[in-house]
Amino acid sequence: MYETILVEHRGPVALVTLNRPKALNALSDQLVTDLGHAIDAAEADDNIGAIVITGSEKAFAAGADIKEVARFTYMDVYQSNFITAKWERVARCRKPVVAAVAGYALGGGCELAMMCDFILAADNVKFGQPEITIGTIPGAGGTQRLTRFVGKSKAMEMVLTGRNMDAAEAERTGLVSRIVPMAELVDEAVRVAERIANLSRPIAMMAKESVNKAYETTLAEGVAFERRLMHATFAVEDRKEGMTAFTEKRQPVWKHC
Ligand code: HXC
Repeated sequence: MYETILVEHRGPVALVTLNRPKALNALSDQLVTDLGHAIDAAEADDNIGAIVITGSEKAFAAGADIKEVARFTYMDVYQSNFITAKWERVARCRKPVVAAVAGYALGGGCELAMMCDFILAADNVKFGQPEITIGTIPGAGGTQRLTRFVGKSKAMEMVLTGRNMDAAEAERTGLVSRIVPMAELVDEAVRVAERIANLSRPIAMMAKESVNKAYETTLAEGVAFERRLMHATFAVEDRKEGMTAFTEKRQPVWKHC
């Protein structure tokens, strides 16, 4: 169905695998287009409650497709609003998105992982923003999101030198939520995504929206936003079901409304 990705449904989880092995999953225009369409489809599908994006054992994605980008002129990139416009589709997804990252996550690959809601990484992972070594700078949010994840000093060092971060450093700095053995990475990511998908979907969307607000606003405004959304959960049937089930000492039956 897609040229550059594979999509498989595992219960309520859409597992999207980047699939350009010969180019280490370099993020060509076709791949980013396919990925956007897969997100559209998963969002429109009521059977899907969460999405996992993964790559191969060797590379989540080794960055934007340098061979494709190399020929672009200023007018090409300015007029098409390269790179952010299409890539931001993942960040705009309202359903929870987990990145399962192994091997190289460089340049746009690191940026794509950071657009997901959280990152589970394998022990062989290498994150980096090496754009400076090819004469450009990150263009899909790398200088902004990496700085928010790991702080100015480390982000600045990585962006200015292009050096990679390994698994231990990525976990220590909070870039990833957890490191998982390579052999278990995808299954664990699907398990976590399934757990989320099996909770109340509208409530999960509200929780995601509220955490994301922390990146966009002041503490006082963020806390006020959170309070309004928490109030809104009282308009959701699943909130009533969740609390009633607790008091009746039984598992809740979510209606996702
Ligand atoms: C296109 C790529 C690619 C990329 C790898 N390949 N990365 N093609 N774009 N980003 C291709 C190689 O050309 C090669 O194809 C094949 O994948 C295997 O790669 P090798 O280099 O032979 O593998 P290896 O020696 O194991 O080295 C792995 C690597 C290296 C360290 C990840 O491939 C590498 O440094 N890649 C580029 C990483 C990078 O700079 N990324 C940031 C891109 S810029 P052939 O056919 O030659 O055998 C970016 C944002 C740009 O993401 C923002 C604005 C423009």
